[in-house]
Amino acid sequence: MRVLLTGGAGFIGSHIALLLLERGFDVIILDSFVNSSSIVINRIKTFLQNKDLKSKFEYIKGDIRDKNILDNIFIKSIKECKPIDTVIHLAGLKSVSDSLTNPLHYWDVNVRGTLNLLLSMKEYECYSLVFSSSATIYGLSDSVPMSEDHKILPINPYGQTKVAIENMFYDLFNSNIKLWKICSLRYFNPVGAHSSGLIGEDPVGIPNNLFPFLTQVAIGRQKILKVFGDDWDTKDGSGVRDYIHIIDLADGHLASIDYLNSNDSCLEFINLGSGHGYSVFQIIRQFELTTGRKIPFSIQGRRDGDVAKCYADISKAKKLLGWTPKRSLEQICLDGWNWQIKNPNGYC
Ligand code: NAD
Ligand code: UFG
Repeated sequence: MRVLLTGGAGFIGSHIALLLLERGFDVIILDSFVNSSSIVINRIKTFLQNKDLKSKFEYIKGDIRDKNILDNIFIKSIKECKPIDTVIHLAGLKSVSDSLTNPLHYWDVNVRGTLNLLLSMKEYECYSLVFSSSATIYGLSDSVPMSEDHKILPINPYGQTKVAIENMFYDLFNSNIKLWKICSLRYFNPVGAHSSGLIGEDPVGIPNNLFPFLTQVAIGRQKILKVFGDDWDTKDGSGVRDYIHIIDLADGHLASIDYLNSNDSCLEFINLGSGHGYSVFQIIRQFELTTGRKIPFSIQGRRDGDVAKCYADISKAKKLLGWTPKRSLEQICLDGWNWQIKNPNGYC
């Protein structure tokens, strides 16, 4: 089977790429590298060399808003008699704060880019899609655990673009072409790294998210972790989130492909999380325990747009996909730290 993986050089995409290749898929990555490094591609190749899988992988530098590039990818694979069976679509922009400053850019890349992709897929009769949606679409509510039926109320342009894309899927699914098979996966907080330490999360600039910030404090790239609030209505006053090991998340995509392959026309919105809520203080404690590194922190005021608690009800993913996250918080800390010590300055 051949998979087109847009955004495959990014944090989540690179991990999915390794898993797909390990399981025998042919993979084409399309990425503009606007938020990733081409070194990722070399790391994937290194991984493949060790396993003699090189011929199954190719990558193309390009933008999903460029329809010619997309069309050419589909045309070339048809000519090679290895048409693309499924698209995993991750290419897009993901910063909440940036989306507040540049909303049109987010609509352009995320929504127009996805529309372009869907147009090419339709034209070349590839109807099977796995999409990277986000728990951010559940907005400011903190009634937990959150199931897929939870009210959709995005509170920033980034979240709005994910909802707009999900709405496109509704319209496609309800159209008279009863061929579309779509899993829209709503990720909670993907963290950690591949256990090889070859690939991991390497945010550009100062990390916004807890886990990469914490590992950068541990390695000495950041001085002190700011804990955004210790007065939330949670067990210890700090914010509670659903951290899922990146490999478990990646596995959810393979399970989704299996699901799409064994079903006719379908559209499913599915939470991917661990199903557990951990507070910021719990994360710090577990990281210190696992790695033996002390994490200096200071309590700050609450961050705008944060909620007290956000974690997933994952019963739909378990039932529909037969998928269960397997890796513990300890494993997350172990693998995240392994990546950071092997790559103290990220990909460079
Ligand atoms: P990432 O930024 O590491 O990866 C996204 C990749 O897409 C990058 O390699 C980037 O260069 C590429 N890209 C961006 N615009 C592009 C364009 N116009 N054309 C081609 N490539 C383009 O982000 P990630 O964390 O791997 O997230 C992947 C997807 O998952 C995103 O769509 C994001 O919104 C979604 N998501 C991420 C999280 C998270 O916490 N990481 C949570 C929920 C949803
Ligand atoms: N936090 C800190 N200090 C930091 C960073 C974060 O205390 O330096 C706290 C936050 O206040 C929150 C928790 O750690 O309580 C997690 O924050 P993250 O920024 O790591 O993650 P969020 O849940 O806020 O947001 C992430 C992505 C969103 C996505 C959401 C759900 O950034 O884009 O997960 O998938 F929508």
